[in-house]
Amino acid sequence: MSKIEFDPRFWHNIQGPFEMDVSRRFEYDEDSLELIRRWLRLHDSQVEVIVEVGSGSGYFTEKLVEMTHGQAKIVCVEPDDVLRRYAETKLAGKAEFLSGYVEDLPLPSDYADLTVCHILLHNLPDIYKAVREMVRVTRKGGIVAAIEPAIGSFHYYPDETLNKLIEKVQKAFGKSVWELRTKLMKYPREKPWIYKPAYYVKVFHECGLTEIEIHGILSVFLLSDPRRSRNQIIEWLKDRLKVLKETEKQDYVILKRGGLSKQEITRYRQKYRQYLEKLIKKPELISETHEMEITSRILILGLKRE
Ligand SMILES: C[S@@+](CC[C@H](N)C(=O)[O-])C[C@H]1O[C@@H](n2cnc3c(N)ncnc32)[C@H](O)[C@@H]1O
Repeated sequence: MSKIEFDPRFWHNIQGPFEMDVSRRFEYDEDSLELIRRWLRLHDSQVEVIVEVGSGSGYFTEKLVEMTHGQAKIVCVEPDDVLRRYAETKLAGKAEFLSGYVEDLPLPSDYADLTVCHILLHNLPDIYKAVREMVRVTRKGGIVAAIEPAIGSFHYYPDETLNKLIEKVQKAFGKSVWELRTKLMKYPREKPWIYKPAYYVKVFHECGLTEIEIHGILSVFLLSDPRRSRNQIIEWLKDRLKVLKETEKQDYVILKRGGLSKQEITRYRQKYRQYLEKLIKKPELISETHEMEITSRILILGLKRE
């Protein structure tokens, strides 16, 4: 196995599998999935074998199963045992799961019709290594694609104090995780690709891909949107409360390292818990609540030369 600078086998310590699924539960609606399906040519019967790298909790794998109506063979590669096993249990019989790194995939060359990742490149120390390896396992004429954060995400709560605290929490989280990576692993201090979509296109070009396309997906979620059932929303609020309880220890370690004081962390956790509990107790308030999330992603794809 070639040398890997970043060993992500403990990714679940930063974000556990349940938290991963809960936080993205409503990200893509039917319309977005239809667009992704079209861009990735998933309606094409020639897309028989799909490789997903960095599949984590299987969040995007589930979408792939849905978008292909279970007709394609989906092989996922993920180095974190906890995340991979969670996904394996959730998607038993619908996808195969292998342990491995995107920089050194345990698959033969020219294997897949489509090789895809969802929020992976954004986190890597060397994107070139990853994309070259994705190209290797893809057949000639096949597609290599990545869906990555475009310009960040924004979450608004109907409570200014909570908004300010959450803004601080997000900054501290990012700082803490990235600093740890630069300290413990060979991560560049500069992050030339973070929120710079054009950088991915440059990498795709330089890795020999052709007919490159880039698309944008803007997902806007409003808690009070009447198209979602009340029960679905209550279940989601309860799951978020469960995640909050499960991540207590992790919050104090990660956020403290990112510069938040113990008091600030406690205050954020209290405020957020109270917000969730209030809505769970009084669901009639949901229709008047303007909690909103905006998530921006780009989808880059290119063809492997014949
Ligand atoms: C932000 S998570 C995204 C997970 C999943 N694709 C999703 O969208 O929910 C990043 C994932 O990439 C995995 N990962 C990180 N470095 C990796 C590497 N070098 N090779 C393969 N996977 C990696 C992590 O273990 C984690 O599961």
